[in-house]
Amino acid sequence: MLDSDHRQFTLNAMCDIIFMKADSRSATIIEEIEKNVFSKPWNLKNIEESIANRLNYSEIAVIDGESAGCIIYSKNSFEAELLRIGVKEKFRNKGLAGALLKRMFDTLSEDGISEVFLEVNENNQAVKFYNKNGFTEIARRKNYYGNENAIIMKATINTVNDENTKS
Ligand SMILES: CC(C)(COP(=O)(O)OP(=O)(O)OC[C@H]1O[C@@H](n2cnc3c(N)ncnc32)[C@H](O)[C@@H]1OP(=O)(O)O)[C@@H](O)C(=O)NCCC(=O)NCCS
Repeated sequence: MLDSDHRQFTLNAMCDIIFMKADSRSATIIEEIEKNVFSKPWNLKNIEESIANRLNYSEIAVIDGESAGCIIYSKNSFEAELLRIGVKEKFRNKGLAGALLKRMFDTLSEDGISEVFLEVNENNQAVKFYNKNGFTEIARRKNYYGNENAIIMKATINTVNDENTKS
């Protein structure tokens, strides 16, 4: 807990942080983050299609007026899938991706969705980040990325309904 408290403090110490829901006007902001963060970024068309997809949800974090990171996930009535999460290098290790995930978990909890899945290259350093943030491996897809395996991970969320049942 000490670690996450410290991270929260680091994030709060940044002057001004805004989380904004992406719409068609913010596609180019996500494009810029994608280019900055991923070796195989989504192009503008991919991003516009994702934003237009009513099952997808995208949120951008803006720190001191600069786009710093974003998250994209899809959800239906039963489950969600984390599609993208990325933070620009200079904003990393301050808890920003953790905060974006927490906001996703909170939204899904309110929607009564208790399971979130993702797929990641087994060699991606983000696996460590996901493990730290409640995801556990549930399956592997052999040679999914050329000769590298994909890991399927799942996080279980307490929904608002669960919490009401408890009391
Ligand atoms: C993964 C990522 C989103 C984390 O963003 P972040 O804001 O730095 O994450 P947080 O500050 O909330 O958490 C940091 C923790 O995550 C892990 N982590 C994050 N990036 C890491 C990296 N490149 N290498 C190793 N561990 C990493 C670490 O466990 C770190 O904690 P530690 O200091 O104890 O090692 C960011 O590194 C990134 O954008 N990476 C490139 C894009 C990517 O791979 N996205 C995920 C696949 S879609």
